[in-house]
Amino acid sequence: MRAQLERDFERFGRELPRDFAGYVRERYRIDLSARYLGFPLPHPVGKGSGQLSLKQDQLEADRDAGLAFVVLKTVIAEDPAGERSMGAWAIHETRMKVERRPSAGGRDGWTVTWKGRGWDRPFEEYLGLVRSAADLTHSGSLVAVPSVKYHLPALGEPFREAEYGHTTDALMRAWGREPLPLEKDFSPTLAGDHLADEQSQILRWLREVPNQIRAGAGSARVRLALKLMNARHDDDFQLRMINAAGAADALVVFNRLWSVDRAVAYGGHDLSDRNLRVLAALRGRVADHPPLSGTGNVCSGRILLEYARLGCESVQLHTLFQLPLSEYPATSGTRQQRALHLLFFHPTEGVVAGMLDLEARGELSRAGGELRFLDLYGSCGRSPRRHEAHEGHEGSTQ
Ligand SMILES: Cc1cc2nc3c(=O)[nH]c(=O)nc-3n(C[C@H](O)[C@H](O)[C@H](O)COP(=O)(O)O)c2cc1C
Repeated sequence: MRAQLERDFERFGRELPRDFAGYVRERYRIDLSARYLGFPLPHPVGKGSGQLSLKQDQLEADRDAGLAFVVLKTVIAEDPAGERSMGAWAIHETRMKVERRPSAGGRDGWTVTWKGRGWDRPFEEYLGLVRSAADLTHSGSLVAVPSVKYHLPALGEPFREAEYGHTTDALMRAWGREPLPLEKDFSPTLAGDHLADEQSQILRWLREVPNQIRAGAGSARVRLALKLMNARHDDDFQLRMINAAGAADALVVFNRLWSVDRAVAYGGHDLSDRNLRVLAALRGRVADHPPLSGTGNVCSGRILLEYARLGCESVQLHTLFQLPLSEYPATSGTRQQRALHLLFFHPTEGVVAGMLDLEARGELSRAGGELRFLDLYGSCGRSPRRHEAHEGHEGSTQ
């Protein structure tokens, strides 16, 4: 198997088969099936919301490369008069800078520095993108899900229901079928905003936003993922956020870190170190939470497997799709294909190699002759979610 993996790494670096997950299942008896927001996926790797999911041709390239899912750029909600309470997030900025970023622990990684925020074009154009995303999703070729930033009130203020209702209804019409899958972004720029100074304010948002969105959809059904920020508070507060977000159908954990000095969001190993540390703490503390999708510095199969072992049923990447071509071991293909090649087939750091290692160490067993990606969560010597004892509730982490 190891020799085979070396050979596959070599030849798939020239051309990655689109159905590489089917190949892995047949050749290695490894089932990479994954999940995001209730969608079954052939493998766990998707593209996170951002500058790489603004246009239909980007979605088509992702489908052709074999990504399992894509989250569209975050649009800023508006009311029927076109008013946007979060309008400060719709600023125009085109320049992105891909930079090396050493972590606090000294590990070299990458980050994308960008001063922009949400979708900066008319809402109508976004609805056109949502229609394309719906077509791709309904045809079964790529799951593509919209993302929104809605009004977030200060404590004591009401939610602007007209903004929730108008935006959700328009997205629902563009999507054309129930349920509407939707991600709600709590961004790093929000974490850096004075609005997010107050912990109780953030917890109220997480508790009430799902109801606001569902009420805005009227009788139509919404399947909702909340993308949680890395708040500028301690690890314990991250757990309290997860506790407060129990009404969501999925949680994306956790968006980028916020640099107060540079006033920019950043990633790299500091981001994955923090996210994985919090997810490890989550295991014993919060018994019942929505299914997780990981995000943050997934730059190798090993890091992907760490997210999976801590409960993530899929992962959402951005930075790995933007590196200089010389950073990928593959010699041809799009960046998405080169990233998939690296993540799954690297002979020591890839997902296939990592799952075979776990089997060799007795930490992952075959079921029906197969190693299964979705079994990784139970493979840390702990029992799977929703079967754990109820020992955590919101009060216990305060
Ligand atoms: C330039 C840039 C723009 C982004 N824009 C959004 C956005 O609009 N909405 C959102 O939810 N996440 C956004 N993200 C976050 C990514 O989707 C992803 O969660 C994050 O970058 C962590 O993954 P990574 O370390 O693989 O980049 C953005 C990230 C980058 C680098």
